[in-house]
Amino acid sequence: MKIEEAKKRLCLALDVDSLSDATRLVETLKDKVTIFKIGFQLFTKEGPEAVRAVRSIGGRVFLDLKYHDIPNTVAAAAREAVNMGVFMFNVHASGGAEMMRAAVEAATQQSQKNGTPMPIILAVTVLTSLNNEILANELNVNTNLKDHVTHLAVLAKASGLNGVVASPKEITTIREHCGHGFTILTPGIRPPWTNDADDQKRTLTPAQAIRLGADYIVVGRPILKADDPAAAADKILNDMSSQ
Ligand code: C5P
Repeated sequence: MKIEEAKKRLCLALDVDSLSDATRLVETLKDKVTIFKIGFQLFTKEGPEAVRAVRSIGGRVFLDLKYHDIPNTVAAAAREAVNMGVFMFNVHASGGAEMMRAAVEAATQQSQKNGTPMPIILAVTVLTSLNNEILANELNVNTNLKDHVTHLAVLAKASGLNGVVASPKEITTIREHCGHGFTILTPGIRPPWTNDADDQKRTLTPAQAIRLGADYIVVGRPILKADDPAAAADKILNDMSSQ
């Protein structure tokens, strides 16, 4: 893959708690990273201003707020995500088909009304912090985790979503069941030159994730904590483009 293509697929997790830190990172990395993920921490602290700031510097925003509520409420949130001009946002597949369809319909209508591009809408299937025991004992889900992930990914696709957020170990099975047009975004990425997995339990290198079929990779600490974040991003792009 060419470096320019790798840039389009690299998403930086803006896991910082201030607008000034976020803005500095986007300014530094905007020529290497196309998508910036704004999650609960930054959005709770700084609100829509964080989205505006990233967009005004020229970055695309992945709004990672994992909507999970009644369909009417999620539809209303989806409209506001469109109004903020986000490139991508996500919902929990376990909110059900009606909720996911409501998000897609509301986003479609609002994009048409505003004359702006339709965002990519992804589903979170099963959080990677859960395991088979928690599914069975706490949530009373008596299917094994991999099958449950696949089931929810298929449901998301049938509900009109564009794709899923998936752990590296789920890429292959999701691809098998949901086909090639279905977007897969993968966190849990660690470059081959670092031994620091932080709290990630099962990691893949950028090249491995791309080879397995990830459309986008999300990277946080390997860039955020690097002495030279721009150099770290360059090395990650090179690793991706080896595929
Ligand atoms: O620093 P690191 O590269 O581990 O950051 C990964 C980002 O992806 C974080 O923002 C984290 O919340 C998110 N994420 C994850 N694992 C998931 C889903 C999201 O690490 N299963």
